[in-house]
Amino acid sequence: MPASDVQPSSGGQPASRPGAPARRPVIGPRPAPSSTPAARSAMETPPQPAPTAESLAMLDMATLRERVLECTACGLCRGRRQAVFGMGPEQARWLVVGEAPGEQEDRQGLPFVGRSGQLLDAMLAAVGMSRDRDVYIANVIKCRPPGNRNPKPEEIAACRPYLMRQIALLKPERILVLGRFAAQTLLETDAAIGSLRGRVHVLKTPDGEIPMVVSYHPAYLLRSPVEKARAWQDLRLAAGLALP
Ligand code: URA
Repeated sequence: MPASDVQPSSGGQPASRPGAPARRPVIGPRPAPSSTPAARSAMETPPQPAPTAESLAMLDMATLRERVLECTACGLCRGRRQAVFGMGPEQARWLVVGEAPGEQEDRQGLPFVGRSGQLLDAMLAAVGMSRDRDVYIANVIKCRPPGNRNPKPEEIAACRPYLMRQIALLKPERILVLGRFAAQTLLETDAAIGSLRGRVHVLKTPDGEIPMVVSYHPAYLLRSPVEKARAWQDLRLAAGLALP
C-alpha cells in the first residue's frame, strides 16, 4: 500500500522570494475528478510523450510547473483533480522528497497537507526546519494514484525527469528522502529502505554532489510509531551534515 493519508502504507536562510504558494481554501466537496475541467482536458488531450531530461533542461521553475500541471504522459492524469508540483521557497536549504499525492494533496494541489504532512512538519520542526522558510517539498509522482495504490514503474519513469529538473533548479544543500519509492527512485536501486536509511548517500548532478538521507515515510510512521526513534536518528543525521 502506498504512502497516503487515507490508507497509510508506506539553520535556515530566510527565503528572499515569497515562500510557499497560498493554500487554496477548500470550500465544500469538490466535483468528481472526471467532471473537473483539468480532468476533462486530460481525458480529451492525447497522451503526450513522457518528458526527458533533455526536453526539460532549459525550463525555469514556472514553466516546469506549467508542464507538470498539464502533463498527460501517463494514465494518472485521468484520475487526478490536479497535479501536485511541489511547494516551498526556491532558495530552500533542504529538499524533502515524498512519494505521491494522497487525497488531500490532490484536492488542494499541495504536497503533504494531510496527516502525513502534519507529522512531517513536526519532524522538521524538531530539527529547527520549517516548510515555509527552509524546506522545499516535492514528490516523485506528481499525480495521485487511484485509491492511493503503489505507483507503477512506468509512472515513476515518466515522472522522474520532473523531479530531477526540480533538483537541478533548486540545488538544495541536502535531500531528505521519505519512503521506499522515493529512495529507490533517487538512488536507482531495489534495496529495502531498512538498508538505505541511517547513512548519507550522494546524488551526483551536473552541478555537483548533493548529500541525501533516506528515512521512513511519515505515513509509515503513523502506522508504526515504534520506528519514530529511527526516523529521529535519520533527521539528526540530515541536520548534522556539514555545510558545503
Ligand atoms: N504522501 C506523500 O508521499 N506525498 C504527499 O504529498 C502526501 C502524502
